Amino acid sequence: MRREIFRADRARALALLARAPFVHLATTTPDGAPVLRAIDAAVLEDGVFFHGAHAGEKATCLGRPAVVSAEEVVAHVPSWMADPVRACPATTLFRSVQVHGTLTAVEDPAVKARALEALMRRWQPEGRYQPIDAHDPLYRGELAGVRVFSVPLERVDGKWKLLQNRAPQEIERVLLGLWERGAPGDAEAIEAIRDANPGAPTPAFLAADGVRLHAALGPDDLAPVEALLAGEYWWEGEPRELVGPAHRAATAWVGARAPHGALVASARAVSDGRCAWIYDVVVARPWRGRGLGRRVMSLLLDHPAVRRTRFVRLATRDAQGLYARFGFVDAAARRRFATSSEMVLDRAAVAGEDPPRRAPA
Ligand SMILES: CC(C)(COP(=O)(O)OP(=O)(O)OC[C@H]1O[C@@H](n2cnc3c(N)ncnc32)[C@H](O)[C@@H]1OP(=O)(O)O)[C@@H](O)C(=O)NCCC(=O)NCCS
Repeated sequence: MRREIFRADRARALALLARAPFVHLATTTPDGAPVLRAIDAAVLEDGVFFHGAHAGEKATCLGRPAVVSAEEVVAHVPSWMADPVRACPATTLFRSVQVHGTLTAVEDPAVKARALEALMRRWQPEGRYQPIDAHDPLYRGELAGVRVFSVPLERVDGKWKLLQNRAPQEIERVLLGLWERGAPGDAEAIEAIRDANPGAPTPAFLAADGVRLHAALGPDDLAPVEALLAGEYWWEGEPRELVGPAHRAATAWVGARAPHGALVASARAVSDGRCAWIYDVVVARPWRGRGLGRRVMSLLLDHPAVRRTRFVRLATRDAQGLYARFGFVDAAARRRFATSSEMVLDRAAVAGEDPPRRAPA
């Protein structure tokens, strides 16, 4: 890699390769013709594995140098975010990985079975098949009939191109521009840029005392948010394993971390562009009563997915005071909602599993 500032460490690079839905294999035939294929691969600790036919084109490339690559676009940054006149600062931010190795045929049936089983687990996590085992008579013939290839991890290059070559003030302008534009993925791009440029100034919309605010939370925050919400009344009796998917499905998910890195506040919203529903506003107990709930709510309301909606709705048992500060009122007090009532289909109640509560006498 020409510029080391863009290099990502090996673990992050391999994680990108492993989560890529599809990867590319580049190699050459013995007469030097280039070969480029899209492949479904399993990334294991000793290589990238995929399968093919014994007599296919890839088989003619065995023993030749090969590259496997994958990439994710983080954001297309228009020039105006960094410079009001010149076109040159326009750029695409991305993460990419390239693994270099020699295209190799896997002969050991146990290794073949391990690679194919890894692919099955990835794309068919529900199971409903007999696991692939080299000693299983069901698979012995099939394993002999399929060609499994590997590209050993001889060299792993990860490139994270996230403005590391730009001046801090320019980075700050891009962060502000992304927040203003608010296209899908821009909030996540803001966090990726901040992560790659720890010295960049914090933009005003993320300024806070004593905590680090985040315009987007992600997969690493799923377990912490489940812990934060444990015991909160609206999750009582609900399966905790739904907390993760509920947060992954959010159109806006913001939060705050303490200086030691722990997640101490979180809030999410689901928006269809006209109306956003807010869910799961929570602050860690030791952090309550210091203005953090208000700060996180204000960030969530300013999130592009929520900022542009006409209606923002939520339900709360007792924190009306917090929301009233932002202009929320009882829906029944608004003329538009006064003649309608909120209805709910509770499937557990319909199935007789959870009878409705009797009204207090
Ligand atoms: C509700 C919660 C998010 C508030 O967070 P927080 O950091 O303690 O709140 P803040 O310190 O920012 O307080 C902001 C304002 O809201 C008010 N407020 C906070 N919690 C309140 C509550 N339960 N009832 C009424 N008002 C409340 C505060 O009095 C404060 O008012 P002020 O600005 O006039 O002083 C937090 O207490 C919490 O996580 N509670 C448990 C989960 C919960 O109930 N979430 C809301 C479900 S909709």
